Amino acid sequence: MKKVLVARAVFPEVIERLGVVFEVTHNQDDAVWTQAQLIDKLQGREGVFVTGTEAIDAKLLDACPQLRAVCSMAVGYNNIDLAACTARRVLVSNAPDVLTETTADFGFALMMAAARRIAESEHFLRAGQWTRWGHDLFAGADVHGTTLGILGMGRIGQAIARRGAHGFGMAVVYHNRSRLDADTEAGLGARYVSKEQLLRDADHLILVLPYGPASHHAIGAAELALMKPTATLTNIARGGIVDDAALAEALHERRLAAAGLDVFEGEPALLPALLTLPNVVLTPHIASASLPTRRAMAELAADNLIAALGEGERAGAPPTALNPQVLRAG
Ligand code: DGY
Repeated sequence: MKKVLVARAVFPEVIERLGVVFEVTHNQDDAVWTQAQLIDKLQGREGVFVTGTEAIDAKLLDACPQLRAVCSMAVGYNNIDLAACTARRVLVSNAPDVLTETTADFGFALMMAAARRIAESEHFLRAGQWTRWGHDLFAGADVHGTTLGILGMGRIGQAIARRGAHGFGMAVVYHNRSRLDADTEAGLGARYVSKEQLLRDADHLILVLPYGPASHHAIGAAELALMKPTATLTNIARGGIVDDAALAEALHERRLAAAGLDVFEGEPALLPALLTLPNVVLTPHIASASLPTRRAMAELAADNLIAALGEGERAGAPPTALNPQVLRAG
């Protein structure tokens, strides 16, 4: 039997399923491994089941020459050096689609929580500070009928656009590396604009773009300065896309009304200034975390691992491989 490693705790049924096909070493205690420990655990193993938190880079690949498949239960794969894997003919898969609607729900919820000051008012109430109704008590911004800006218009961005345009009567503007075709834009009710126009027009801006060198600090001081002081910013994409220090300053000076952040630069550590600001809603990278969706993500990673490394009838095309060409290469 081939040997695989499951690098983080995962649903027991997924371990059981993998156990039918492979000799599985797991980390159900969810111990925090250094990269050196991960390399050590990977010795003699052909496959690894990862999440969005394990760094799979050239150093690790060189230290684990027997590794043939890296299957992630996350859709974002900025933790995996895809080019280095492809060069060594290591198959990589991620987990798209299964989390799209759940993540879009969360993006909308976070944006609404920021706009309507839900977390801030809840803290006030829990602290025993609520003594009477007030005409402007935690009066925030409307969401319905306003302009929703989306930076990054992939599957999740489009699911957010549908909610905004069709559910909340919002005018939807977006910016993306490539423009959608006219029919898709019309179906979504979304209008393509330049990044600068997006920043100027949005009452509520949601970030849903992948992280990489090109998107590092895509939202920094200069971009924040273009936004309306009444606007909100929601990041459900990746830490590092926003310059958190610049954002904290803009929120503190009320040059931006509020923010909803699910991801952070250097998470799980947070910029201390963010913790003291009342006008930011903070959540611990849980946008895809509904139980059914997290199960589906884990099952999809297992499907990929089994297809990539399984034998006989189990072998096949991994359903969501990012570099399927490595299987075809002679
Ligand atoms: C993803 O799937 O990319 C989520 O952000 C969890 O890492």
